[in-house]
Amino acid sequence: MTSTASIPTILDPIAQDMRQVDASIRRALSSQVQLISAIGSYIVGAGGKRLRPALLLLVARAHGYDGEHLHDLAAVVEMIHTATLLHDDVVDESELRRGRQTSNAAYGNAASVLSGDFLYSRSFQMMVAAGNLRVLQILADATNVIAEGEVLQLMNMHDPQLGVEQYMRVIHDKTAMLFEAAARIGAVLAGCPDAVERSAAGYGRAVGLAFQLIDDALDYSGSSEQLGKNVGDDLREGKPTLPLIVAMQRGNAQQRELIEQAIRNGSAEQLPRILQVVQECGALDEVYAVAQRELGKARQLAQAMPAGPYRQALLALCDYSLQRQS
Ligand code: IPE
Ligand code: IPE
Ligand code: MG
Ligand code: MG
Repeated sequence: MTSTASIPTILDPIAQDMRQVDASIRRALSSQVQLISAIGSYIVGAGGKRLRPALLLLVARAHGYDGEHLHDLAAVVEMIHTATLLHDDVVDESELRRGRQTSNAAYGNAASVLSGDFLYSRSFQMMVAAGNLRVLQILADATNVIAEGEVLQLMNMHDPQLGVEQYMRVIHDKTAMLFEAAARIGAVLAGCPDAVERSAAGYGRAVGLAFQLIDDALDYSGSSEQLGKNVGDDLREGKPTLPLIVAMQRGNAQQRELIEQAIRNGSAEQLPRILQVVQECGALDEVYAVAQRELGKARQLAQAMPAGPYRQALLALCDYSLQRQS
């Protein structure tokens, strides 16, 4: 595998912007209720790759934007992402996030869910303050679709019959939608024509799909240490993701039965055997191939943007999304 630039290197052209985004997030976390600020600082302070605000900033800068609200709106996108993580870790009963105990493990489910609500509503306050109705519309729609995606996924739990199309719908809704919104807002702020806005959105969607596809592969093949979250969580939950769907299509009757059972029971007891099947039948390669197809679309859309360091970063993010280990 060729080496890929690290996130800080890729995001170097917007390093100064990202510091301002971080400052904006920190200001936004303050609350009279001490537990809310504590949980907010706990999860935000643990880091995270900050990819979604980066997309917004890179698209906006690539199209020459140097106006108001840039950092606050990029902060809003990261805060919405953080709210979904707080909720997602409760739903998934996850214990590790960003190399730390999850907030639900440290503070409990109730406090985590309610702090997620605080982050969502604070995000909307900030959007109203920015006063851009188009941006408000884009993020109202995106958060709504994300919620639908998470519920759809919940309904698909323990279902070994789930098809590829249904899986793609879930990952589009729960993950790609926010990447798409972030990139679209970058174009909207820069006052781009509709066609350019649509291209930016298409870039975000394709990167977001690839990002979740790789996340689902890494849940089988990655290292908890590098990812900062536990691998094997998807199997433990009985979540039918693409590595399993493909393995069931390609495996023999016995292998199929093994995977179907694990999905129905939501147990990682057979993880080593399942991992072997997933690897042997080339299911992970197929997941990477699907991600690569999406990234091909993303690269093409990025190539049409104005040349320069920001476009270069948008292209580098495509390579990173495929090769990432964390
Ligand atoms: C985690 O997203 C949730 C998924 C969509 C897979 P990230 O991997 O971007 O999480 P952080 O923000 O870097 O921790
Ligand atoms: C992504 O799904 C969650 C959201 C987009 C809210 P996952 O459940 O796969 O994310 P991780 O693996 O917990 O980060
Ligand atoms: Mg999860
Ligand atoms: Mg995951």
